[in-house]
Amino acid sequence: MNEPLRIGVAGLGTVGAGVVRLLQQNADMITKRAGRPIHVVAVNARDKEKARGFSFEDIEWNDDAASLASHRDIEVFVELIGGDEGVAKVAVEKAIQSGKHVVTANKALLAIHGHAMAEAAETAAVTLRFEAAVAGGIPVVKALTESLAGDRIKQVYGVMNGTCNYILTKMESTGKDYQDIFDEARDLGYLEADPKLDVGGIDAGHKLALLASIAFGNRVDFRGMDIEGIEQITFEDIQLAGDMGYRIKLLGIARMSERGLEQRTQPCLVPKDSPPGWIENATNIVVLEGEETGQVFLQGAGAGQGPTSTAVLGDLIDIARGRRISTFGQAASSLTKATPVQDGRDVAYYVRLRILDEPGALAKIAAAFGDAGVSIHRLRQYGRRIDDVSATVLIVTYQTSRQKIKHSLTAVRQSGMTIKPIVSIRIEDV
Ligand SMILES: NC(=O)c1ccc[n+]([C@@H]2O[C@H](COP(=O)([O-])OP(=O)(O)OC[C@H]3O[C@@H](n4cnc5c(N)ncnc54)[C@H](OP(=O)(O)O)[C@@H]3O)[C@@H](O)[C@H]2O)c1
Repeated sequence: MNEPLRIGVAGLGTVGAGVVRLLQQNADMITKRAGRPIHVVAVNARDKEKARGFSFEDIEWNDDAASLASHRDIEVFVELIGGDEGVAKVAVEKAIQSGKHVVTANKALLAIHGHAMAEAAETAAVTLRFEAAVAGGIPVVKALTESLAGDRIKQVYGVMNGTCNYILTKMESTGKDYQDIFDEARDLGYLEADPKLDVGGIDAGHKLALLASIAFGNRVDFRGMDIEGIEQITFEDIQLAGDMGYRIKLLGIARMSERGLEQRTQPCLVPKDSPPGWIENATNIVVLEGEETGQVFLQGAGAGQGPTSTAVLGDLIDIARGRRISTFGQAASSLTKATPVQDGRDVAYYVRLRILDEPGALAKIAAAFGDAGVSIHRLRQYGRRIDDVSATVLIVTYQTSRQKIKHSLTAVRQSGMTIKPIVSIRIEDV
């Protein structure tokens, strides 16, 4: 029998406990596939007494994640604590400095510190892998770093936060508004401790930044991303979009052009019959579009114990097999610093306003768009519905720049004809 791969696991929550349980439950199969056993030497979490759903026999308990990270009997440190600062960061840095390979599911950590960590891993001649960090059980990191390594990637896009997609599809199917479904999602345990990470688009943004780095060979740049959450979306928006053949999705989209890197994570109208448009509930989808390959769709469970733990196991088995792949698919020193492009490609916009229902109001609104150089493709006023003094107006523009739409909305606000926040959403004809 070949020597076992000896690992330490820090964090024994949903993912960490799942990893140890599956390593025990499927030990024979994993040993055959990895070519040697994967042995959990030691584990760490906050509460030593908590039942974890696996056997602690032959497993050492360690009270401190950073000391586990440099444990002399482990070759791989598995970080499943979470968070972009604090103990997870300290422990991963310590593991790399101590010459241990690292496997993590922590997108927040890598989206912020990924480049520095990839450089450190290279200097220390260790591997840093993160398949589970992006879209849970969907093998998208492997698809990009391995299968599509020979293709020039044109764009990467998808729906990568299951909680947001659950909220949006539930709003659509029940007719309830955002806050009601948000409360239901929280009761079901779908939301992070800080819900802003989910509904604010941050979690999906972390994942997209990691994929963009592999796809385009740039240093991971989460801070250069345009991020907007789904908090402003109402059932009325979903209904109006639906009437036009669209659904509203929290879409992550990254493209590289001569001007630089466009990365955005925001609610968008997408055609109902497009890949992001057909995704229901908490499912994720990622579309990788290569110059030669065309579109590759990867769809599945973006979170949950089984899928996410399986992704961690895939990275561990790779290390046990002796496979060494650079963190972002190429040497960290060869990753370039991309210029962030704020004003990406022109698109049409959906704009919903509530205007004072008085003579001339609509003309003033239309003029505000015209003066900013934005052409209106469709304009429709819906009758007085709520308070007898105002009416909903739906405007769909022709393709225009972000700058122009911003100017037109500023002018609309200054017209004094609107009485509610204006909702404007990009229409991405993906
Ligand atoms: N859950 C998913 O479906 C999923 C999907 C993709 C990626 N991820 C990522 O996987 C990672 C883990 O997520 P999770 O859902 O498993 O989290 P979780 O259930 O909240 O578990 C976190 C674990 O970390 C431990 N922990 C917290 N602070 C610690 C500290 N200071 N020192 C030592 N241990 C500490 C906790 O210990 P106690 O148990 O003792 O409190 C717990 O075992 C995160 O980076 C997350 O973003 C999760």
